[in-house]
Amino acid sequence: MSTIKDFSYSHPIKTILEAGGLKNRLAAEVKELGTDRILLVTDPGVLNAGLLNDAEAALKNAGITYKIFSGVEPNPRTESCYKGYEMAQEIEAGAVVAVGGGSPIDVSKAIALLMTNGGDLESYEGPEKYKNAPRPTICVPTTAGTGSETTAMTVITVKSRNYKMTILGKSMLPNVALLDPSIFSKMPPFIAASTGMDALTHAIESYINRAANPFTDSFAVEAIRLIGKYLRHFVGQAADLEAATGMLVASNLAGIAFDISRLGDCHAMAHPLGGFFDVPHGVANSVLLPITMDFNLLADHGKYKIIAELLGEDVSRMTDLEAAPYAVEAVKKLSKDVGIPENLVAYGVTEDKIPQMSKDAMLSGNIAVNPRVTKLADIENMYRLALK
Ligand SMILES: [Fe+2]
Repeated sequence: MSTIKDFSYSHPIKTILEAGGLKNRLAAEVKELGTDRILLVTDPGVLNAGLLNDAEAALKNAGITYKIFSGVEPNPRTESCYKGYEMAQEIEAGAVVAVGGGSPIDVSKAIALLMTNGGDLESYEGPEKYKNAPRPTICVPTTAGTGSETTAMTVITVKSRNYKMTILGKSMLPNVALLDPSIFSKMPPFIAASTGMDALTHAIESYINRAANPFTDSFAVEAIRLIGKYLRHFVGQAADLEAATGMLVASNLAGIAFDISRLGDCHAMAHPLGGFFDVPHGVANSVLLPITMDFNLLADHGKYKIIAELLGEDVSRMTDLEAAPYAVEAVKKLSKDVGIPENLVAYGVTEDKIPQMSKDAMLSGNIAVNPRVTKLADIENMYRLALK
């Protein structure tokens, strides 16, 4: 009997992989959207590294009017989205372009949404809660990564309740994902490591969860293989174009997989850590991934053995059950090798917030697709393990 369940998917996005693409392709892609006025959304790190210089020159040459909003912080807040929205209105932007990691990309999506719907971002939390399709967006990721350049969702922190909300909607999918590995050369090793582990978490969670299908499996498996092959090299030498390209493609493939099948307990638990303690998203996932994989092992149907193989473990002579713990160990080894701490103590996470964080985690749509049925007490236990 086949184990393949019924599925349907839609993933209409123009995706370009080109070293030098930010400089050479951005202006043409903006014009193809039918506008010559854009808001560029980025963060101070990208701006100070000079990553926008060539792109700005190209935009000027092409006669495109732009303003730069660079006030995006990690775990970006609603306030930043409103500030960017104001700036976009000032220049009557016809499109929003993000050049940055997951935070600027998520903010760009929120700004594009506000431009056509106005109002209060919190009222759009959840799936398809807004009315009008957002303004067009082009996303150029500078980390590998969040995969946000290819997902129809944005995650924004509501600081008044220390809560990271997710806004989802089919029309939030960016119009163009422009993947340029040549802009990765100055990435600090810890950013390369933590964002790369976020991509691995996307790939593994979307692969093992209950909503996975053969289409998402194929994307997730290739993403895991590429990350197993390239993440250590990339952290060691971000200017290595082969490693950078491998990681950029991996994070994009993992993004496609989780845009369709969503994630699992690990991401449900990572978001409150960002909301309460500003733990970098990739670090939260790196610490939680082996813990949630261990919890989910009971529901495994052989995919853990494949993950172990993809991450370089020799499990060929083992049964699925014997091989499964090697997948968890392979993730721990990779995380340790690239320099992620083993627990969250250094980030100021304290036990007293576990009850509230656990309640918030249970609100996530990712819990419903997690491989193993998850109760509040399970989440509380796993948070405690992340502090050991
Ligand atoms: Fe993530």
